[in-house]
Amino acid sequence: MAREVRAGLSRNPRAISPKYFYDAIGSDLFDAICELPDYYVTRSERALLEEHADSIVGLAGARALVEIGSGMARKTSLLTKALCDRNASPIYIPFDIAPEAIDASARALLDLHPRLRVRGVVGDFGRDFGRLAVHAPPADGTRLFAFLGSTIGNLDEEAAPALLRSVADIMVPADRFLLGIDLVKNSRILNAAYNDSQGVTAAFNKNVLRVLSRELDGEIDEAAFEHLAFYNEPLQRIEMHLVSTRAQPLTLRAADVRIDLGGGERILTEISRKFTRASAERTLIGGGMELLEWIPDAQGMFALCVAKKA
Ligand code: SAH
Ligand code: TRP
Repeated sequence: MAREVRAGLSRNPRAISPKYFYDAIGSDLFDAICELPDYYVTRSERALLEEHADSIVGLAGARALVEIGSGMARKTSLLTKALCDRNASPIYIPFDIAPEAIDASARALLDLHPRLRVRGVVGDFGRDFGRLAVHAPPADGTRLFAFLGSTIGNLDEEAAPALLRSVADIMVPADRFLLGIDLVKNSRILNAAYNDSQGVTAAFNKNVLRVLSRELDGEIDEAAFEHLAFYNEPLQRIEMHLVSTRAQPLTLRAADVRIDLGGGERILTEISRKFTRASAERTLIGGGMELLEWIPDAQGMFALCVAKKA
């Protein structure tokens, strides 16, 4: 963490990896974002899963669900319900960087489905996929790998295919991959989704400063930063920044970071890329996957992709 944060903050423009958003407080704040009227992403994806989860699980012949970046797994019960309806001993393997989220979601899903076996794996999907290797493909039935919430959009043009390739590497030909992606749309809708009127997204963005101070022995004046999020139309992505409202030092002793931020200087904390069918398909191909099914909603807000290892 120290090395990565130092490298990001010394870059021009400065950046902090979004994976540090998700401590216990950050996971709760993200959970609250998913309920916001302006944040259509979760609602749109849930509606698609309500309609299609059963046929996706059925066509995949899945006995196990491996979910990457599972978080609080609020939509996952639609998939695990189908899994439990169709199998005597269904398995759910959530993989996330936030242990608190894995713990809470495992409990909630076990309450719903007593027959489900849950095998949580804590790790960084940019690095620790090897930890999934202990869970071999079941002898009877396949695995459905799921990557929901358009988290793929938080990865850039290099990191997204790299992640898909590392998933493809552990898949066998009969396994299936389910990807949730947010679509290019009217910028007014996009800007509202990342600038909610209740300030939850702003609190989520600023929480990363508290995480860094705590973990890396720092002093950061949270009040001297502002949330900035906007749709960058040419790049088809939301950019989220923290803006330093005045000239100030930023110190993280455990990471050997001592920098001076200028008034108005931005730190990029997240991108959220928006896709078309063509750019989604390109990303999948670049990641060694082949698109089998394209399932957009009627409003053109969000889409599910079902793919296999190419
Ligand atoms: N799938 C859920 C949560 C999406 S939020 C949904 O659709 O609502 C993104 C999730 O990815 C968070 O739970 C976060 O903890 C996790 N995450 C972010 N970066 C990660 C990384 N590098 N490795 C593993 N998990 C990560
Ligand atoms: N994958 C989500 C997205 O890109 C993550 C997210 C939603 C998010 N809202 C956010 C991340 C606000 C940071 C801040 O939509």
